[in-house]
Amino acid sequence: MNEPHLAALKCPKCGKKIRLSGNFEPRTEVNEGEIVCEKGHVWSVTNGIPSLVHPPVSADDAKWISDYDEMAENYDELVKQYDDWLGIDMMKERLRLFHFVPIEGPVRMIDVSIGTGANFMALHEQYKDKIGRFNLHGMDLSKEMLQVSCRKFGQAKMSVSLTHGSVFNIPYQTNFFNIVIHSGGINTFSDISGTLREMLRIARSGGTIIVVDEGLSPRKRETKEGKAIIKANNLFASKPPIQHIPDNAKDVEVIYVMNETFYQIAFKK
Ligand SMILES: C[S@@+](CC[C@H](N)C(=O)[O-])C[C@H]1O[C@@H](n2cnc3c(N)ncnc32)[C@H](O)[C@@H]1O
Ligand SMILES: [Zn+2]
Repeated sequence: MNEPHLAALKCPKCGKKIRLSGNFEPRTEVNEGEIVCEKGHVWSVTNGIPSLVHPPVSADDAKWISDYDEMAENYDELVKQYDDWLGIDMMKERLRLFHFVPIEGPVRMIDVSIGTGANFMALHEQYKDKIGRFNLHGMDLSKEMLQVSCRKFGQAKMSVSLTHGSVFNIPYQTNFFNIVIHSGGINTFSDISGTLREMLRIARSGGTIIVVDEGLSPRKRETKEGKAIIKANNLFASKPPIQHIPDNAKDVEVIYVMNETFYQIAFKK
């Protein structure tokens, strides 16, 4: 991690700014070590990834995270099974997230549950030589998922600042990002209101928040095919959590994507 990455972060305990601990030259890349907030809270950095998780993860969330840790190496293969089953091309579908990217100018973007980095790999494919416009950050609560995305971004020579943190208390500055995305996990999160509130907090005024997860459209869930999908995987019975969208969110839009098998919520700050 480096200084621009640090400047984007805040201490998840007290909200203060964070700096490197010890005598580092400016522009140093820190792979292993510690960072410390203005109040003295100390956080570790391992393999270039700062760990800023607070409060400690609940037992329920820890169970999910240990499952994600275990499936990290095979996750991309597992997701491919959705392609045939649902008749979609998930990597192409991910490009839909980038409809919200302005036509020109710098874009600060974060994927708050980055998993194996698939959304940003799709972004890289789409923008190739224009990828320099993007200041990219990725966060996840699973260290194994972060390791997989770190390796993939390294192989693709993409610069993405990765942070170990939780969507329930995002260790990033308020009013910072143009685009805040989450895909694939919110249906099982223990605090959906808190997640959406935090995603809105870190967005800049006029910024966009996008959330995509399993959930059939009202039309599809009444069809024979829809019923079979829900029977095989109950996550597809989930409904877009619109009751949890913060009151101060603007221009809320809910659509169904990927053959009406996922919902997509977008709103502005
Ligand atoms: C189904 S995966 C989706 C990964 C990726 N967004 C994608 O679209 O392929 C859900 C991700 O959410 C992460 N996650 C679960 N709870 C989290 C939390 N409280 N904070 C941040 N990430 C979390 C998991 O570790 C996992 O990587
Ligand atoms: Zn602190």
